[in-house]
Order: sequence, then C-alpha cells, then structure tokens
Amino acid sequence: MDAISLLARKLGEKVRKWDDIAVVSHYDADGITSAAILVSALESIGKDVRFINVKQLYSDQIEEIKDLGSAFIFSDLGIGQISALLDSMRAPFIVLDHHEIPPGKEYPYLLHPHLFGLDGSKELSGAGVSYIFARELSGRRDLSALAVVGAVGDVQLVGGALVGYNRKILSEAIEAGKIFAFRDLALYGRVSRPLPYMFVYSTDPILPGLTANESAVYDFLDSLGIRYRDDSGHLLPYVDLTPEDRRSLFTGLSLYLLNRGWDTDKLSRLIGEVYELSDEDAHSPLRDVREYATLLNACGRHGEPEVGVHVAMGDRGKYYEEAISLLRRHREALRMGVDYVVSNGLTPLSAIQYFHAQDVIPASVVGIVAGMIYSSGIASFDKVIVGMAYEDEEHTKVSARATSRLVSAGVDLSVAMRRAAERVGGEAGGHKPAAGARIPRGREEEFVQMLDRLIATQLSST
Ligand code: C5P
Ligand code: ZN
Repeated sequence: MDAISLLARKLGEKVRKWDDIAVVSHYDADGITSAAILVSALESIGKDVRFINVKQLYSDQIEEIKDLGSAFIFSDLGIGQISALLDSMRAPFIVLDHHEIPPGKEYPYLLHPHLFGLDGSKELSGAGVSYIFARELSGRRDLSALAVVGAVGDVQLVGGALVGYNRKILSEAIEAGKIFAFRDLALYGRVSRPLPYMFVYSTDPILPGLTANESAVYDFLDSLGIRYRDDSGHLLPYVDLTPEDRRSLFTGLSLYLLNRGWDTDKLSRLIGEVYELSDEDAHSPLRDVREYATLLNACGRHGEPEVGVHVAMGDRGKYYEEAISLLRRHREALRMGVDYVVSNGLTPLSAIQYFHAQDVIPASVVGIVAGMIYSSGIASFDKVIVGMAYEDEEHTKVSARATSRLVSAGVDLSVAMRRAAERVGGEAGGHKPAAGARIPRGREEEFVQMLDRLIATQLSST
C-alpha cells in the first residue's frame, strides 16, 4: 500500500469511532464531488452524516458551521485556515485538502498531497484526497469516478490528460468499469451540444473565424459535407457523427485553423484525453466528465452546491432538473463576464493585467472568467490575470490565474496573493497557478499595485 493510503487508513480508524459527523466542503466541482464521495462512504459504513458546502472558511464562516456535528471532516478546504480552525473548533476534526499549506503551519490529522511529494494543483485534487480516504474507510472503489470528475473540474489536466496520483485514480475508475478514457477532439460539449454550437460557443480555445460566428460554422461544416442532422432534421452532437465524418471534421478543422495562423503545436492541443462515465446516458450532460464538472460548478457558483452533491450521489430527479437550470444560468453568467472583459479590456501593469467587473459579474464566477480570458486573444500570456468583482457591501473578491510558463518562471500566486491580501486587511489562499482572495472594498488599487510588485519580484528572483 502507498504511503498516502496508509495515512488515510489511520485517519479512517479515528473516524470509525465517531458518529454524528459533519462534512464541510468547498462549493466548487472538486468540493462537491469530495462531499459526495465522503457522504457515500460514511453512509455505507453506517454513519450518521450531514454535509455543507461553503465558499470559503473565513473566520466568520467557522462560527456558522461549528455546531453542525459532534465531529468534522473538512474536505477541499481547511488547511489555509488551520489556525482559525484550531482556535474555534471544540469538536475533533480531520482535514482532507490539497491547497497550499501556509508556511509554518502543521496539523497531525491532515491528509494532503504535499506531505507525499505530490503537487496539489495537478497531481491530486481535493476529491482525489477524499477518495483515497473514502476507499480506505469503506473499500468503495466505485467512488473513484467522482474523483475523476473533481480533478477535471479543478482544471488539473496537464497537456489534456490526468497525471500523477489523479492518473492512478483514473485507472481505478476504469478497472471498476465506471469510466472510459480515450483520445479525441476535446472541445467542450462533444456529448450534449449540437455540433454547430460546440464550435460557436468554444472559448477554450477560441477558434478564429468560428467561435461566436454561427453562419461561418454552418458554411464550414457544409463545405466538408458533414452530416450533422438526423433524418428529421434535428442537430446532432459530435458523438453522433460517423467515424468517417469525425475524421474529415478533424482534417478540415486543422486546415481551416492552419490557414488562420495556427501552428501544429496549437493544433495538437485540440486533441486530448476524453473521459466518459459508463453509467450515464449516452447524451446526458453527465456523460462527459468535463460537462459533468461544469454542471456541478454551476450549482456551487450559483448558490446551490448541495443540489450538486445530490446529483453526484445519484439523484436524477428533482435535484437533477434544478442542476440543469443552474447550468443555463451559469453559461449565461460566463458569457456576460467574458463579453464584459473583452469589451472593457484589461489594465496592464508590469507583471499582471487586471479587470474589475464591480457588480457586472457574480463574484463566484470571476475566477472562471479570469481563466477564460487567457484564451480570448486580448490577454498577454506573459502576465498574470487578475479579476475582481464586488462580493458584498464590504468586500471585493479577487481571483488570480497564471499560465504554466509563468509558474515555471517562479510565479507562486498562493504566496503573492496571501501577502498582498494581508497588507490590505484581506484573506487569501490557493495554488501556485490559481489563487483567490477577499479584500476590503476601496483597497483594490493598493492591492493590485502590491501584487504586481510581489509577482515582478518572484519573476526576477529565479
Ligand atoms: O476563488 P478562486 O476561484 O479564484 O480560487 C482559486 C483557488 O484558490 C481555488 O482552489 C480556491 O479554493 C483557492 N482559494 C483559497 N483561499 C481563498 C480563496 C481561494 O484557498 N481565500
Ligand atoms: Zn480543489
């Protein structure tokens, strides 16, 4: 058995003695799948369990959750706020997290990739940590499929595939018969979007000439002679194309993009590993792991993470219906967000470029929008992207994203955001390539200047 599973087993022995357990997890796809994995495993060993998904565990949130159970499992969060937890929690708790461990902080009941030399931003997600714990506690290997959804939702793919311990979990899911993995055109919506719209709405990447250009997409597909309607005229999704049509589509798309300035390196990124859940309906938005993760994210980011947990635990009735309508809202919010930033532009400083969307974008999606802006063509790949929006009357939410090249060049957003936030009386945390903060409203200018200096220093000292 590997070292991380051994520690998981030990923590499991502790948890076996508990009852009336509360699972407190993060509100994004990784946190939602973490909660679903933990609740399922705890219930299968006969525990009485409750769960809640929160945006962050800032000191004020700890007060709200600390009476939820007689013992606690924190998943996909907790290590960033370990001092506050130790100060306020009376009940026993364990932490299953993958966010950066703040310097000088330790906790004996922590399961975390960094304790085992694994990178928590790409080799093991929060759902992965929760799965290892759940597997050792209950023997349930079928839960590995949800861990794959969590890792993909946490943007842990490297070069289009899961790596590190995430990959080990993927093979457990394949062995359990829960997931098919294969290489294919990896555009979003391959299962549940009508083919033309897979191109029209593609933002990662932006396809020059096709994204946001419906009539050009139809011309393009017609010129290739692709059959993208069924006999009654309904539009088909990519997965329903014949193998020949898939091949001519890929060849045609490659030529089209090469003619518009793409190089072969960029083209190769259109192909990636695709993961499908074998138990889901062939056309369900839950069939493709990326679409599944987006659906869960939609629940969390729009105030209903618990709906996502029920869906991840198997509900295909009223929670599922609700999740589908939250997904619609989510897509609309992202579209509005990207439009806003593209039309208002980014403000460049020396090492960062930022936007402040005030009340236009919900604070909960500002990080996703910031990440999407890299592929919009308006952002420089040599600078960190920082997005801001009002969170409430007193706070501004800040999200920062860096390319892997910037991280290799020395950028650590977790450290920089934490330092800059502390200087203006805010709180922050995250990973090297993606971190978030909450700062007092009115201190934004000071914050971005400070962050810019800190990141410039990180880049010049390596
Ligand atoms: O909120 P946002 O999407 O920008 O967060 C980026 C990453 O940083 C997420 O993994 C989030 O959990 C983490 N984060 C954190 N502590 C914060 C804010 C964000 O660990 N205070
Ligand atoms: Zn996570």
